[in-house]
Parts: sequence; structure tokens; C-alpha cells
Amino acid sequence: MGRIVYLNGEYLPEDQAKVSIFDRGFLMADAVYEVTSVLGGKLIDFDGHVVRLARSLNELGMKNPLSRADLLEIHRELLRVNEVVDGGVYLQISRGAPADRDFVFPDPVETPQTVVLFTQSKPGITDSPSARDGIKVISIPDERWARRDIKTVQLLYPSMGKMMAKKAGCDDAWLVENGLVTEGTSNNAYIIKGNRIITRNLSNDILHGITRAAVLRFAREAQMEVEERPFTIEEAQSADEAFISSATMFVTPVVEIDGVAIGSGKPGRNASRLRDIYLEESRKNAI
Ligand code: PDD
Repeated sequence: MGRIVYLNGEYLPEDQAKVSIFDRGFLMADAVYEVTSVLGGKLIDFDGHVVRLARSLNELGMKNPLSRADLLEIHRELLRVNEVVDGGVYLQISRGAPADRDFVFPDPVETPQTVVLFTQSKPGITDSPSARDGIKVISIPDERWARRDIKTVQLLYPSMGKMMAKKAGCDDAWLVENGLVTEGTSNNAYIIKGNRIITRNLSNDILHGITRAAVLRFAREAQMEVEERPFTIEEAQSADEAFISSATMFVTPVVEIDGVAIGSGKPGRNASRLRDIYLEESRKNAI
């Protein structure tokens, strides 16, 4: 049996959840999304995702159709009916399906937004080979649009980046603009030098990762120094350690960049420690 998913107020078997071909998410990528991870049947950093969702909607002039309480109830109901222990919940809100294709936004009163949520079950997600062995990344030019702070479903270039990495025998790609790393295709990028974590400062150039905020807070609490500034691939290659963060990868060590081993070429001590702290604290605070 397939999953039960949520579509516009209804819980439906996944093969019965249908969206119009005129939906602007489908035709124009006019939609925003969030991915919230689930550990032990509970939601990680839920409030951070709710706040960022509201911001993304606001930046695109869309209203927020669901309150925090509604969202929490839907997330929890989906986890319950689908018996998800470890994995995540994907949420997408589009500007809805007007009567025809048109570049101009539809009247929000006449065209309700399309709200979709579904679960992804990933048993043992925290024991992945990438966490144990680290991942290898390549660098590619950042050819995305200039509002990467808005979490839209325009994910073609990130998908192409993952395919370029795969073709090169690697796991992911770091995006480079004007000689400086912005972020990973679907994660934030960090390097570590001594006791100092370096990651790009927040701006419209990167997604304001919810995991990033938590990781930097935990790093400071663990007496590590945090420097928020851009870095080059060369600086990353000569760093002691590197890692990425996201709701789906938590903290995952990076052991190679463009064929150059980072540090010992094995997951670094600090990145592994941060991962442990992140998972422990997240489990404690999960709702
Ligand atoms: N991606 N940067 C980009 C471009 C991302 O797509 C993501 C998340 C992040 C990390 O954000 P967070 O820590 O809030 O997950 C950074 C999600 C997981 C995805 O697209 O599946």
C-alpha cells in the first residue's frame, strides 16, 4: 500500500492525490517548500521551518494558508498514519491553479493555493555510509537565480549539479560564484581550521539553513569559534576539515574537494563531534 498524503485539506492515498496541469508550481515553479526531518517519530527544528516558510511565502507575495498549529497537526497526522519513525516530511505550497497559463499572478481570492505534504520514511537515516565515510564533492559554477534565500521549487540547476557530481564519481557539488563558495546544491557548506568554523554569511546568495542556525549555536556552545564569511575552493582544500549541513544530511563530513583530500581524507574529529551534538540536541528538542 502506498502512502497517505495531504492535499488541500484532505488525507488521501498517494495515487488519488491529483493536482491540476495548470498549477503554477508545475508550470512556473511558482511554489515554495520545506523539508523537516523526523527522528524517533518526532519533528526536528519544526519551528525554524515554519518561520522560514512564512518568510518564503511573504517574499513572493503569497499568503500563508496554514497556521503553525494547523501545520503541526498535519505533520503529526501524516507521521502517525504512515508510521514514520525516521525520515522526513516534505511540504509544498504553490500559488494555485488558475483557469489557464498566464505569467500574471492570479487573484488569490479566486485561486486558492495548492498545499501538498507527504512523508518519506528512511529507517536508520542517522547511520548512513556518508556519515561514516564522509562525502566527496566537486565544485561547479553557481548558475542559480539571485534569490536563493527563498526556498522555491526551482531545483533544476541543483539537480544538474548532483548529476555532474555523480558523473565525476562524487556525491555532491559545491557552487562557486565570483571565486567564492556559496553553498552545496542542497546544503550549506563549511570548513574548519583549528578550532574555527568558517561558513558563508547569510544574504540572498544562500538559503538560510535551519540546520545551519542550530549547528552554529551548538558550535559556539562547545567553545568553537564561528566565522561567517565566504571562502574559496583553494582555502577549503587546505582546511583541516570540511562538512555540509541540511535537514536530510544533518552534519555530514566532506573528505574530498575536486580530487584533493581534506585533512587526513577521513571524517574530521570536529565535524564528527558536531554531528553527534546536533543529533543528540535535536532528538532532545524534537516535538
Ligand atoms: N535542502 N541550501 C540549499 C540550497 C538547500 O536546498 C538546503 C536544504 C540547505 C539546508 O537547509 P536546511 O538546513 O534548512 O535543510 C541549504 C533540502 C533539505 C532539500 O532540498 O531537500
